Amino acid sequence: MDLGLSGKACIVTGASRGIGLATARFLASEGASVLEVSRGGGGFTADVTDPDAPELIMGECERRFGSVDVLVNNAGTSEAKPLEELTDADWQVQWELHVMGPMRLMRAAGERMGEGGRIVNVCSSSGKRPSLTNAAYSVTKAAQLSLSRTFADAYAGRGLLVNAVAPGAVATPLWMEEGGLADQAARAKGISREEALEAAAAKIPLGRLGTEEEIAAVIVFLCSQRASNVTGAAWSVDGGAVPLFI
Ligand SMILES: NC(=O)c1ccc[n+]([C@@H]2O[C@H](COP(=O)([O-])OP(=O)(O)OC[C@H]3O[C@@H](n4cnc5c(N)ncnc54)[C@H](OP(=O)(O)O)[C@@H]3O)[C@@H](O)[C@H]2O)c1
Repeated sequence: MDLGLSGKACIVTGASRGIGLATARFLASEGASVLEVSRGGGGFTADVTDPDAPELIMGECERRFGSVDVLVNNAGTSEAKPLEELTDADWQVQWELHVMGPMRLMRAAGERMGEGGRIVNVCSSSGKRPSLTNAAYSVTKAAQLSLSRTFADAYAGRGLLVNAVAPGAVATPLWMEEGGLADQAARAKGISREEALEAAAAKIPLGRLGTEEEIAAVIVFLCSQRASNVTGAAWSVDGGAVPLFI
């Protein structure tokens, strides 16, 4: 199946590792040109929570590739923190990263993209089913799902399609790196890292964490010209973790 991505100018935020890097690689392997955005360098350096970032990112994509055809709002993060320990600043950081950043990028993209354009927002199963691992993460990911649907409705009339994906636990650096969510869960529960990973896998019907390539494959399909009748969807990619069919 030809995904129709050859020659498309794509922006992927949070592309230095994990799901974003896998997505950028898949898009490139389909012949797309990809602007890889993160704060740490390696691609185009920008902090998506900076109000000036969208114009800089869109401008750079147009300068390098001549247009903006695809936007993947993937930058995001979490940490294990009990509800009573979450400060106002923690809530605000999550809001800026998961809602204001993607909102500004979609608004800027909407000024440039039209018929055939694609936007994919990387949300989370935690937005569909709240988790107390980090309430601020769950609540802002739920808001990001609503944001995605709102922009899908706003942009549908001009053939610019907007969708969300909702991954469950995925074995990216967010979970697996030293000090990541696996180690944090182990510390919080007084168990080993291996036991924490087994406990996370046991909550998933498929019995394992997802891989970054499995999430990226769905993102790339939604970016493709083959997904031409899909907009406003919130596609679960979670090994069956959230028992919802809508
Ligand atoms: N892994 C999971 O289990 C899981 C589950 C559900 C949903 N998700 C979602 O999937 C997305 C990717 O997660 P991941 O697991 O791949 O995370 P990751 O391995 O920690 O990678 C996160 C990426 O986002 C970038 N980033 C973070 N803050 C940024 C900012 N303010 N501006 C620009 N870039 C920023 C990071 O680079 P820099 O630090 O260099 O900026 C990095 O490239 C996130 O939205 C996450 O919420 C992940």
